[in-house]
Amino acid sequence: MIWGVSSSAPQSESAASEDGKGLSIWDEFIKGKKGVLRSRSVVRDPHRFSDSADFYYRYEEDIALLAKIGFRHFRFSISWPRVMPDGVLVNPAGLDFYKRVVDTCLDYGITPWVTLYHWDLPAALQKKGGWTSREIMQHFERYALTCVKALPEVKNWIVLNEPSVFLGAGYLFGIHAPGKRSFSAFTAAAHHAMLTIGHAARVIKDVNPDLQVGSTFSFTHIDPYDESEQEQKVAELADTLINKLFFEPVIGLGYPEKMPARLRKINNNMRKGDEQLLHAPLDFIGIQTYTREVFRRDRMNLLLGIRRVLPYERSIDLTAMNWEIYPECLYHTIMKVHRYGTGIPLYVTENGVALDEKPVFGRIHDSGRIRYYQTHINEALRAKAEGAQLEGYFAWSLTDNFEWAEGCKPRFGLIYVDYDTKERILKDSAHWFKGFLEG
Ligand code: GCO
Repeated sequence: MIWGVSSSAPQSESAASEDGKGLSIWDEFIKGKKGVLRSRSVVRDPHRFSDSADFYYRYEEDIALLAKIGFRHFRFSISWPRVMPDGVLVNPAGLDFYKRVVDTCLDYGITPWVTLYHWDLPAALQKKGGWTSREIMQHFERYALTCVKALPEVKNWIVLNEPSVFLGAGYLFGIHAPGKRSFSAFTAAAHHAMLTIGHAARVIKDVNPDLQVGSTFSFTHIDPYDESEQEQKVAELADTLINKLFFEPVIGLGYPEKMPARLRKINNNMRKGDEQLLHAPLDFIGIQTYTREVFRRDRMNLLLGIRRVLPYERSIDLTAMNWEIYPECLYHTIMKVHRYGTGIPLYVTENGVALDEKPVFGRIHDSGRIRYYQTHINEALRAKAEGAQLEGYFAWSLTDNFEWAEGCKPRFGLIYVDYDTKERILKDSAHWFKGFLEG
């Protein structure tokens, strides 16, 4: 097993316009829509989006801390608009930043795992349709090849982070960039994103067949509200919409057939040969799980007829994200992916917990996070002991950072960040990991 930590560029770099960086769809989205008196943003703390953890200026300090904790693997993402401000032309200063990050990792004996797309599409490409346009595949190809050729020391590449989340939240529910709420935009964007995984994997492997190319998927364990046949069917539908739709095509199973008619329209975007293109030659699968969800039938929901039963309705203690802590979720999701029988190695590429925390005499006593990691890692190892080909685990996240629509309040880091002074404090959980990694 390898052990690492994950992060992403838009959530931790800050420096939105530094050294020629172009705007991303998130830089635009946080501004919100113009209301009668002022702009209204659905994002909390929008001013913090480009003024949070400052990884752009402090990567050396952060990587040194990562090494000090004892991790030997670091997953971070490249900001597409930093490297290609208009989505097309290369910004050498942007690429240089990632060369320095990679070199610093290597100096500390840390293996970099690089995500190409953690949701910050260049705003210029959004103007051309973004993921809803099939042309995005060619844009992505040029971007991926630019990065892969410029960073030959990087052996592990991740194409897309959690398509279900950036597509669902960004194109269907409008709570993430680019803030669309449309079934047709969602199905078109979803099809092109799913095609991009396979396409990018193939072009990257053409550069160097020894590179390891994977993609990461959000998998949520879903339980029915009760054991009745009706509620079991509801849970199956939720599982299809949240998990299967964004994973099965990539392993060659095509889109699920049992879907509501409006979602089956995803097939209208299919062109000849797409079914084969969707099947991606992945070297590893990244599993990202934090909690579980419970669904029940809801006749008032005219669209799908189901709804999420929120953790507080189930009288459950909540994390700072209002999520349930349910360690078995990791065991169940790993086993579920294992049961597909693809033979592709699995990594937990994100798992972690947000807590409300403040320094007490310069320390962060996050015993809740230590317990979270102990219990979840146990469940991951239980799946491995039962035969799942689990080869690694990455905690989310290295430092506290900007949690999308929820802003800076939920703190996921092993390292606390004072967002005003940018000072870093290793939390108790970081010290716990140090002991754990030392065996
Ligand atoms: C996601 C992303 C991360 C999140 C993390 C906590 O899953 O949404 O990959 O960017 O910050 O999962 O919510």
